[in-house]
Amino acid sequence: MAREEPPARGGLTVVTGGGSTETSTGQRTGEAEAWPRALVLLLSGPNLGVLGQRQPEVYGHDTLADHVHRATLAAAEWDLAVEHVQSDYEGALVEAVLGARGRVAAIVVNPGALTHYSWSLSDALACFDGPVIELHLSNPGRREGWRRRSVVTPVATGVIAGFGGEGYRLAIEAAAALLHSAEHPSTPPGR
Ligand code: DQA
Repeated sequence: MAREEPPARGGLTVVTGGGSTETSTGQRTGEAEAWPRALVLLLSGPNLGVLGQRQPEVYGHDTLADHVHRATLAAAEWDLAVEHVQSDYEGALVEAVLGARGRVAAIVVNPGALTHYSWSLSDALACFDGPVIELHLSNPGRREGWRRRSVVTPVATGVIAGFGGEGYRLAIEAAAALLHSAEHPSTPPGR
């Protein structure tokens, strides 16, 4: 089952799912794994901890736990595990990204409002050498002018925005497809 550690310095919450995960087909997996599954770090920025109560007309009624569950189920279908970190603190998110290097295969990040101004998060993500999927519940490009600029997009592999909670599944599938194509390139190296 998902393991939730007590909030640490900076209000950081880490949930690791994948040691034993229920798939959408109801199977339980992972109890007797010969080796650990590849990890996807799912990062949630400021104010996402109150999803479900926060402007439901924009962000929907699902809680962050619902979205993490959806992502974890999607990841299990690809034999991936999800580690989730939510913080309202920029530095905690930067530390989570830097701590992912060499340990995590891909990052899915909904940076919240940090999307629009956090150069330190952008710089940290630029240090990560796997796929980075920028994720938004809403489509910031259709909203206020200040939301139309993302400082994360230039360092992201791709962006998924505007699909509500479904975006969590899409983002995991995008990460999985990128990891799979890196393992099994359709074009032979050197071409
Ligand atoms: C958001 C969009 C951001 O502009 C906003 O500040 C958020 C949520 C989204 O998921 O749609 O906090 O990242």
